[in-house]
Amino acid sequence: TSIKDNIQQEVKIIKRKLNGYVGFANLPKQWHRKSIRRGFSLNIMAVGEAGLGKATLINTLFNREILKKEVEVEEEQESSETVSVKIKNTTAEIDEDGVKLKLNVITAPGFGESVNNVNSWKIIVDEINSRFDSFLEAESRINRSTVNDERVHAFLYFIEPTGHSLRALDITLMKQVHEKVNLIPVIAKSDTLTGEEIAEFKQRILEDIKYQGIKTFQPLDFENDEEETVLNTKQILSKFPFAVVGSTKEVETPDGRIVRGRSYPWGVIEVDNEDHNDFIKLRQLLVRNFLEELKEHTANTLYENYRTEKLNRMGIAQDNTVFREFDPLAKQEEERALHEAKLAKMEAEMKAVFQQKVSEKEKKLQRSEADLFSRHKEMKDKLTKQIKLLEDKKVQLEKQKTLPQEPAASSPAPTKTRKGFLR
Ligand code: GTP
Repeated sequence: TSIKDNIQQEVKIIKRKLNGYVGFANLPKQWHRKSIRRGFSLNIMAVGEAGLGKATLINTLFNREILKKEVEVEEEQESSETVSVKIKNTTAEIDEDGVKLKLNVITAPGFGESVNNVNSWKIIVDEINSRFDSFLEAESRINRSTVNDERVHAFLYFIEPTGHSLRALDITLMKQVHEKVNLIPVIAKSDTLTGEEIAEFKQRILEDIKYQGIKTFQPLDFENDEEETVLNTKQILSKFPFAVVGSTKEVETPDGRIVRGRSYPWGVIEVDNEDHNDFIKLRQLLVRNFLEELKEHTANTLYENYRTEKLNRMGIAQDNTVFREFDPLAKQEEERALHEAKLAKMEAEMKAVFQQKVSEKEKKLQRSEADLFSRHKEMKDKLTKQIKLLEDKKVQLEKQKTLPQEPAASSPAPTKTRKGFLR
């Protein structure tokens, strides 16, 4: 029996072990499969003055021609005082080893081109807001299964490689958008500056940004990640504002390698070389390491702040932002006011219906009165005619009465003598 007992006990232990396994260790696999099936999406807004290499950088980031150079259409030339900022949205679906990424690139041609740039940031801010608004509207609909996320997840701001410091327009624009988007400043065409110039320029930009209280994108709680990831994130953050070089063209290096880069008489600047520029770090931030975090931060913080502020402005305090103590009296009062408002509304509606019915009846009565009147008039005319006829007849009869009686046709015709005799 002891062997039997032992076996039974072992079976129990195995069973308990199996029962204890819930299966959530399998969740990452589920998540992975689902993500692959659904694909990913990212909305990037790229803003900066014309010719700073925005299209080139986006195309370099995704290694394909997403933003195409349009052939300039000869439109009526806008004067430099009236150049207006327009918003352009380009969509692309890209596939890498079976993983799909739906990309939305939003640009603002005309930004910074006008002599008077006072309000050129407004159209950009309006675009960001309107994307939040569309999401809010879609989210408030009853059927929320098809909410399309068009909010701006990453905002690349291209700084001109002047080597001095930020200009007034740079500061104004960044200040206007930094609380609505994940702001990622980049120094455009950094191959036009020397390494030293870049270091100094970066320093000055960072000081300006700090002084102006401008917030740039910061990954949250990354310190809890694995050591290697923390190190990598720190390296990425240390490159702010990213000094980038864009090029989709392949060139040959002096040592015979074919690389994406820009070729100069003094050598080749390689795009994908961390010693040459910060392109790789920027791509890590945007795509490889923080794509989901950029989206999460947009949804959980930036959009939530916008939504709360908007609803508060509309007078709707949200449950999660305004904590009111539960007061039964106030609640009762609120319900009574609501009930009264409902009653008043019903009364007003009933009054309106009544009013409408009365006016319809009145119109009908007026119509029948007019009908009656005309019929009465008709009858009266008829009667008057008849009276007139009768009176005519009477007159005739009376006339006939006063005339001397002519002998009846049957009596013998009066003789002349008789006539004379009568006279
Ligand atoms: P708009 O569409 O006018 O706003 O221009 P953009 O900002 O999209 O610039 P685009 O990518 O069209 O580049 C303008 C010019 O700059 C092109 O001749 C590019 O080859 C060049 N260019 C782009 N990136 C770089 C760069 O990193 N360094 C240098 N030196 N030139 C660049």
